[in-house]
Amino acid sequence: MAYIPEHIVQQIRESADILEVVSDFVTLKQKGTNWWALSPFTDEKTPSFSVNPSRNIFKCFSTGIGGDAVKFVMEVEKLTYPEALRYLAQKYHIEIEEQELSDEEKAKKNQRESLFIIMDFARKHYQNLLKNDTEEGFPLGMSYFKERGFSVQTIENFSLGYSKNSWNYFEDEALKNKFQKNNLIKAGLILENREKKTTYDRFRGRVMFPIRDLAGKTIAFGARTLKKDDNPKYLNSPETPIYHKSDILYGIYEAKNHIRKENNCFLTEGYTDVISLHQNGIQNVVASSGTSLTENQIKLIKRFTENVTVLYDGDSAGIKASLRGIDMLLEKNLNIKIVLFPDGEDPDSYAQKLGQHEFSEFLATNQQDFITFKAEFYLKNVQNDPLKRAEAIREVVSSISKVPDRIKKSVFFQKCAELFEVAEGVLVEESNQILRRKQQRQQKQKEQEKRRADRTKNLEKVPNEKPKDSTDSLPPPPPEVDIPTEVESDFWADLPPNISPPTVDFPPENFETEQPKEDLQSGTLGELITKWEKECIRFLLLYGQNILDENIKVWEYLFEETEELEFHTDIYREILEIYKSKLADGLEIDVEYLIRTGKPEIVEVVSDFAVEKHTISQHWFGKYEIYVAHEKELLPDGLFKHILKRKHLIIKELINENTKKLAQSPSLEDEEKILRTHLQLQSVQIQLAQQLGTAVHNLIIE
Ligand code: GTP
Ligand code: MN
Repeated sequence: MAYIPEHIVQQIRESADILEVVSDFVTLKQKGTNWWALSPFTDEKTPSFSVNPSRNIFKCFSTGIGGDAVKFVMEVEKLTYPEALRYLAQKYHIEIEEQELSDEEKAKKNQRESLFIIMDFARKHYQNLLKNDTEEGFPLGMSYFKERGFSVQTIENFSLGYSKNSWNYFEDEALKNKFQKNNLIKAGLILENREKKTTYDRFRGRVMFPIRDLAGKTIAFGARTLKKDDNPKYLNSPETPIYHKSDILYGIYEAKNHIRKENNCFLTEGYTDVISLHQNGIQNVVASSGTSLTENQIKLIKRFTENVTVLYDGDSAGIKASLRGIDMLLEKNLNIKIVLFPDGEDPDSYAQKLGQHEFSEFLATNQQDFITFKAEFYLKNVQNDPLKRAEAIREVVSSISKVPDRIKKSVFFQKCAELFEVAEGVLVEESNQILRRKQQRQQKQKEQEKRRADRTKNLEKVPNEKPKDSTDSLPPPPPEVDIPTEVESDFWADLPPNISPPTVDFPPENFETEQPKEDLQSGTLGELITKWEKECIRFLLLYGQNILDENIKVWEYLFEETEELEFHTDIYREILEIYKSKLADGLEIDVEYLIRTGKPEIVEVVSDFAVEKHTISQHWFGKYEIYVAHEKELLPDGLFKHILKRKHLIIKELINENTKKLAQSPSLEDEEKILRTHLQLQSVQIQLAQQLGTAVHNLIIE
């Protein structure tokens, strides 16, 4: 925003009359030289807010806030300093010379202004139809709202409306009123049918919920169908120059002063929740309108309070997902309470059912702090299973780790330790790990970005330098996984014996999709390892001689990364040994070589690969050809993931082993040790899974 010159600031300060400015917000009464009012900053019964006109200042004795008119506007409207200056400039018709505005910026500003005017026109249009249209608006729309228990006052307060069930009713009205078609399109109120070159109304035959910005200006609509199973149930305005869905909360204009006074904000999911709660005397309520909270929405709340009470539908299917979403509020250092509604009820239906008094009581008695709520929620599923308990601990600790405030954090650790009956130290340790990993991840991301940037820079410098038959770039080395020290020594541990012979399925499993599935979860560990080894051999035989970046060949990369690893499936180990011994003779062998010279078992295995490579006749082979071409292109990534997968399997095995120890009824002390190791291993696993793009989070607790 353009800078306000100092002399204009002076002019604004001098023009702003504190009595006038304050009177726009509260009713003042004169006593002596001062004027008094109920404080707009708190909820008080006796006036402690005073204005001294001769000194042009105010003072609020219950909050201690005081200052000039600019300060007052900043506080009462929660504006920044320049915003408050602009507010006053407008009130006193002081022109701020916005020389800095370019033509483009001016056009943008004008555009926004005209959109605001159009939206205001639309709001009135829909409101009018609801009240006065005898064909649809009143008989259908109004009776719908009545049925939902909304009073006339409520309907008025929220400027609810109705849109005609017609293709051009709104558009015709708007054009008659000299609005331009292209602006109506930009406002998202009418749509263009490109082929037929016609336009039509977006909202038809729906009840309308205007969405307002902080200043009360209508910037969008939510529109609900009246039919039972219509899809979508709610149709919303699209993003426009004045409506950014992720920046606004439904009800914020109506709620903001109440949020500040109550020093708390109720957060719901729906339009109707906000409206019903208002009608039942709870006015500090907003809705995220069915989407998950965004950072800007949190910032919006934070302008008015640090305390949020989240109201959850009883049947909220994704309650676990939502629990994770709430972590975001924690990260922003908000205090979070949570109220869960009975099954099948939402805040709207339940408020209507209980009525004002009982509903308030319900909220008061059922609210829980978020961490306790989450801990109890997970504990419910734990019973006596120590692993589930570990998982639950991880979940809760990961939330606590998000809390920036140290004191709050330590209170949560104490509480959580009590609930889980585990030493606080275990929790703190786990939390530190989480934070450390987060840092590492960020660091790595930065490095990766830098590498990528460097690479593109280099490419720009020397175009066409890329050798022809080589793949794009060298895969990054697999990440240095943070293996718990206790188990580090046997990272590349011996693998369990008695592996079943390799299954040679035909067609190979991965034929369905273009890229092989990340099937880390299915099959016994032995089977998975065998699969992995097969895949390794396939890479070697099909792509071994391909050159990666910096003239490293695929086989070199693979051998380097799997150096200490002994294959435990006989047939694949044998092939690997042949490959290595031929290499020693200076020969890079491939599928064809083995088919010509190998023993029958080997020929059987590797001919699979050969078939994969050459057949194109059958339909799924055709697909596979695409896959092969595709795979070659993606080779660096594929190899990298391939190595990661192996590490993942090793962790899986270590987890199995660790878990087995639990069966030997360990002492309490040992159990704690096992638990610690488990948590550590699990975090490595999650880290790997994240890099693989696979979710293992929901492995255990369902
Ligand atoms: P009622 O059925 O009218 O009581 O609405 P509700 O507020 O209880 O709706 P629900 O719990 O189904 O959804 C909560 C919120 O999600 C709604 O208020 C909408 O903001 C949003 N929502 C629900 N359905 C849709 C939809 O089909 N499309 C879009 N864009 N949003 C929806
Ligand atoms: Mn509902």
